[in-house]
Amino acid sequence: MALEHTLSIIKPDAVAKRAIGEILATFEQAGLSVVATKMKRLTRAEAEAFYAVHADRPFYAPLVEFMLSGPVVISVLAGENAVMHHRQLMGATDPTAAAPGTIRARFASNTRENAVHGSDSVENAQNEIAFFFAQTELCH
Ligand code: CMP
Repeated sequence: MALEHTLSIIKPDAVAKRAIGEILATFEQAGLSVVATKMKRLTRAEAEAFYAVHADRPFYAPLVEFMLSGPVVISVLAGENAVMHHRQLMGATDPTAAAPGTIRARFASNTRENAVHGSDSVENAQNEIAFFFAQTELCH
């Protein structure tokens, strides 16, 4: 297995539930390292561009509004097989389908307000990390 980096976003619903600490602790206790993190409100331009791949989907406009509804916590996680490991910890997009104990099973409200985002491939992780962080902001 390879050392990988992945992008994690704790979404506005989970921030509002005061779940930041529990979610970051879940990553750390599973062996992933936080090598960068910041809390911020996305701009509309950032939210639209970050989810541009979904621009033609009916859920795109409400997804953008949701991501603008409050601050998010954006982190870079590092570890062996970090992209898929992080996705396993998050659970399925639809929380009713998420395995018990996963972050979405614990904290998500519905398929849109689903607590967390994670990169879905190593290539997308590189692009998503570069979207939010300069390489000099990663603490190795
Ligand atoms: P995320 O992993 O951030 O990737 C795209 C996001 O779009 C997803 O989590 C959800 O927040 C949202 N999403 C995906 N599918 C749907 C859907 N069917 N209905 C509403 N929102 C969705």
